[in-house]
Amino acid sequence: MPQVTFLPYDIRLEVPRGTSLLAAADEAAEMVPDDFFVGELCEGRHECGNCCVEVVAGAGNLSPATQGERRLLNDMRHGSAVRTACTARVLGDVTVRILAPVKHTPDRGDAQMQAHP
Ligand code: FES
Repeated sequence: MPQVTFLPYDIRLEVPRGTSLLAAADEAAEMVPDDFFVGELCEGRHECGNCCVEVVAGAGNLSPATQGERRLLNDMRHGSAVRTACTARVLGDVTVRILAPVKHTPDRGDAQMQAHP
């Protein structure tokens, strides 16, 4: 199975091919002592951008960006190294850096989101 590494925590886990980076992040978040991890507010509708991650290695091992993802990343003025974790699917080993960690809770939503201090 492909391995996903989340920086800056250096958490590594194996996930089935085709898993979204966000689903992998949800699993990895359980291993983070302070519980700050990848956020999301729009459930993959490309509206919030909270789930953006920088791809440090293995960009070619992610599914291609969708039109909606490209539009959001352009609006946010992110370069080509940034992907939305809700959209990008893991096809091989990849390393990503979390750009804006938020407080993770099992039942996420507006009330549960808290920016990293
Ligand atoms: S969850 Fe909102 S853009 Fe990914």
